[in-house]
Amino acid sequence: DWTPASFIAGQIEEIRKIVGNGRVVGALSGGVDSTVAATLVHRAIGERLTCIFVDHGLLRKGEREEVEWTMRERLGVKLITVEAGERFLAKLSGVTDPEEKRKIIGHEFIRVFEEEASRLGELDFLLQGTLYPDVIESGTPTAAVIKSHHNVGGLPEDLKLRLLEPLRWLFKDEVRRVGLELGLPEEIIWRQPFPGPGLAVRVLGEVTPEKLAMVREADYILRTEIRRAGLEREIWQCFAVLLPVRSVGVMGDERTYAHPVVIRAVTSEDAMTADWARLPHDLLERIAGRIVGEVPGINRVLYDITSKPPGTIEWE
Ligand code: XMP
Repeated sequence: DWTPASFIAGQIEEIRKIVGNGRVVGALSGGVDSTVAATLVHRAIGERLTCIFVDHGLLRKGEREEVEWTMRERLGVKLITVEAGERFLAKLSGVTDPEEKRKIIGHEFIRVFEEEASRLGELDFLLQGTLYPDVIESGTPTAAVIKSHHNVGGLPEDLKLRLLEPLRWLFKDEVRRVGLELGLPEEIIWRQPFPGPGLAVRVLGEVTPEKLAMVREADYILRTEIRRAGLEREIWQCFAVLLPVRSVGVMGDERTYAHPVVIRAVTSEDAMTADWARLPHDLLERIAGRIVGEVPGINRVLYDITSKPPGTIEWE
């Protein structure tokens, strides 16, 4: 019978057998899959696993600190953080097309990872948090493209690493159960999906440091209020999107001319279809009030009431 405990025991033995005296490197995204995979491999081979966390400057508020604390302090995993925000921003300068943004970020991610990994000396395996649905769907271009941004799919040829995929027979709910059994914090187990290109696809049009700061702050307020309202688990994803237009508003006796932000909150089973979340009006009011009051540069809040289809979950 499959239980998280028996899976973990079996995999630890299996990983030790496969890896032998070799060394493993993995890219950590902060998501549940890569975190569970890293924790499992760490249990099996300890210090011979090194994780690389690429901070591309497009993360949510507090995300990097949370990942670093969990991996280093709580789990004792060897973790290298690469601060690459400026590098990504420079590459994104002047770029407005969504697919172009994705391509640039995916490409740069692999380069940064590769550079960092090449500093680690002899390596034998690349750890990936591939799940069973990814294995099944990897034939379809969309899934492959999406996964490639998330999990360093376009493995650099010259690293010549073998793949280590301890979760490849698991579904998402099983990964969560394994994570709980491994003692991972609930915040990681229930973390909402977050796209590889991060906040870059939530600043519509050109990405600038100022706009990133606005969307990051608005997103933080939104998530905080959703959590306070106890609705976190019911919602598949919620986030803020900064629009590249401006509208007139009034604050005190001053006229403002600033950006609108869109709030998106959806319920879903698998992201293939989604319904807009029926958030209570007083919660929406609190969110709007806080965002306009606390985030300079934003003077209007819109709520997206489009389901998928015909809308997508993201705006870009
Ligand atoms: P859409 O917008 O297509 O999103 O309805 C479906 C799910 O996929 C996520 N998503 C991405 N994930 N890289 C990722 O790793 C991407 O480029 C990307 N685009 C969308 C989205 O957040 C949602 O969960």
